[in-house]
Parts: sequence; structure tokens; C-alpha cells
Amino acid sequence: MPGDTSKNSRPRSRVLVIGFAGHQGKEYLPLLRETADVVGGVDPAPTAPAVAAAWGFPHYRTLGEALEKADFDAALVTVPHSEHFPVCTKLLTHGIHVIKEKPFAVTEQEARQLIHLAQRADRSVFTLLQRNFNPVFRFARENLARIGEPYWFSYDYHFNLARPTAGWRASREQAMGGVLLDMGYHLMDVLSGMFPEPARVHSAFVHHYQEMRDRRLEDLVSLMCSYPSTGLVGSLRISRHHYEKTEHLCVLGTEGALNVAPGAAVLHSVGGPPLERHTWEGPKTDTVRSMITHHLGHLDDRAYRQDHFRRQLAVVRTIDRIYRDRSRERNELADRCA
Ligand SMILES: NC(=O)c1ccc[n+]([C@@H]2O[C@H](COP(=O)([O-])OP(=O)(O)OC[C@H]3O[C@@H](n4cnc5c(N)ncnc54)[C@H](O)[C@@H]3O)[C@@H](O)[C@H]2O)c1
Repeated sequence: MPGDTSKNSRPRSRVLVIGFAGHQGKEYLPLLRETADVVGGVDPAPTAPAVAAAWGFPHYRTLGEALEKADFDAALVTVPHSEHFPVCTKLLTHGIHVIKEKPFAVTEQEARQLIHLAQRADRSVFTLLQRNFNPVFRFARENLARIGEPYWFSYDYHFNLARPTAGWRASREQAMGGVLLDMGYHLMDVLSGMFPEPARVHSAFVHHYQEMRDRRLEDLVSLMCSYPSTGLVGSLRISRHHYEKTEHLCVLGTEGALNVAPGAAVLHSVGGPPLERHTWEGPKTDTVRSMITHHLGHLDDRAYRQDHFRRQLAVVRTIDRIYRDRSRERNELADRCA
């Protein structure tokens, strides 16, 4: 169970860090070293050799070089989206467990290929999704049944970035999607821990900046999800350039409501009176530590691995379907205008 690290009976893993000189890589390094031996790092960034020297591990320019020279049983992957699939397939082909940043994969086809390779090699591919290890989100998941039959949710997640998106996230080839893939992956994963896969999703893609429109990288996405088998309907809005940074999930059920924001989840009875409030003030490093420790401790746990694959495949499939629907609509419109 996410958050439970008691099954960590494995010997200390030897881990290669890939993309360690970037934002997420640097955040994970100190916590990873608490429970694993970092045997080396791969990152082509000019700053990477100095970062590796400061942490005292060998720097490799390519994954091929690391595979030749270093001895490791797992890799922590924190690279731009376009690099995930080639890096992960190479690792699995060499029998290495993968602990990676989201997305698990960009397309359903790639997700299936990864799962196939992992199963053939008897190795894990675990996606780092912090909300699964956050006590507030755990409380929400575990207490959802108390609001009766859910019939509506709304989920908002916004950044208030004042400048246009830069770096690899502004490149279609490297980002492979806009806010839906980048920020929305987290939300889709939270929802997939609470509800089945949505049968239908209607989307609106919106752009704040013309260059992002030209590159077909949405700055804002609005989704309407329906689940005809249960009668549930839900709406999401995700954006980078909102007036405030915020995250808020509200679920309405036949017997109450569940309200989740970072730091607090509140159960309400019908009409509003709060029934129970669960708060957690951090620090974020506690969540990240338990997530990394948990995954390292479950690398050989085949049942946990299968659950993880099932859930990530559902998340990837939902996002992939939304992008493919958008692309089909765009092509149909272009045909009509031609
Ligand atoms: N969970 C979160 O809240 C969160 C936040 C930020 C980023 N991310 C995810 O983390 C990943 C990295 O994002 P970031 O913001 O850290 O990016 P970043 O640009 O800061 O870091 C990426 C690093 O990967 C390196 N790199 C590029 N290609 C490589 C390759 N083939 N082999 C090895 N290294 C390579 C780059 O040189 C860079 O140092 C993405 O998947 C992103 O979605 C998650």
C-alpha cells in the first residue's frame, strides 16, 4: 500500500541516476541516497560533471557508457518526456528496474511496450506520483465511500507562472504535450485511484501564448469526463498561467461531499456540515522520501508491479485518447476548410 514502507526487506539497491542535474533529479538525489547507493549518473547537461563531483559519484555522458562501466540494479529517471521511452526501454533490455518521473508513457502503445518489456525481464517500472504518498490524498481515497455514491467531481490545478513556458516544455518534440500531459497526469492518476476509467472525455484546449498555440502545446485544458456505468460526471481545469497557484478537488456524493486541497481534506455531510477534517502540514520531503523508499522496497513485488502497470496504463490511455481525439478533430476541420 502506498505510504507503507514496512515491506522494505530488500538489500540496499545500487542506483544509476539519469537526468540528475535537472530540477527533479536534484530534488530526489539527497533522499535517494538515504536508502540506496548512487553508483553513477547520466546527464548531458554542461553542469552535470560538477554536480556529480559534488555528490561524489561518477558522471557518464551516455546511458550506453554507464551500462558498460557501472554495476547497478535500478535507475531513477528524471528526463524530458521525449527521452523517457528510449531510456526506459534500454534499461529494461539490460534487466534494470526503473523508477521514473511521470508520465509512465506518452501513448498507450508505448505504455504497452514498456509493460511487455518489463514483464519479459521480470523488472519493475514505477512512476513517481507524490499524491499517492501524501496523507491528505490518502485520507480522501480511503474515506471516499463515506459520501455514498459519487455523482460529480470538479478538480482544478493551476500554476500562476508569469512568463511563457521555456526549455523543453516549450518544444513539441520534447514535451510531447502541454499542461494535460505535464500537470494533468497527476490529476488523472489521483482520479484513477478513486474512480474507473472515464468512458467519454470532452476537451477544450486553450492557449495563453501564440507560440504555444503554433506548437500545439496547450496552456490550459478543460475536460468533462463521464462514467455512464455509475452516472458520475466530472470536470477538470488545468493551467499554467492562472492568477493564483491552486489545487482543489471536490467530490459530491449521495450522502455527503469530499473536499481536498493541499494540506487538508474535509468530509461533509449533505448540505455542508463538516464531519471530519484531516490535515497534514508537510514537509514535502517526507512524502518524497516515503515514495522513493516504498518503490525501492517493492522492486521485486510482482503483485504490486502488476497493480501499478494496470493503473498507469489506464492513465496513459485516457490522456492519449484525449490528444488523439483533438488531433482527429483538427484534421477534420482542416479537411472541411480545404
Ligand atoms: N512530479 C513533479 O511534480 C514534477 C515536477 C517537475 C518535473 N517533473 C517531471 O520530471 C521530468 C524532468 O523534468 P525536470 O523539470 O526535472 O526537467 P529538467 O530540464 O530540469 O531536467 C531534465 C534533465 O535531464 C537531462 N537529460 C536530457 N536528456 C537526457 C538523456 N537522454 N539522458 C540523461 N539525461 C538527460 C537534462 O540535461 C536535464 O538535466 C519530467 O518527466 C517532468 O514531467 C515532475
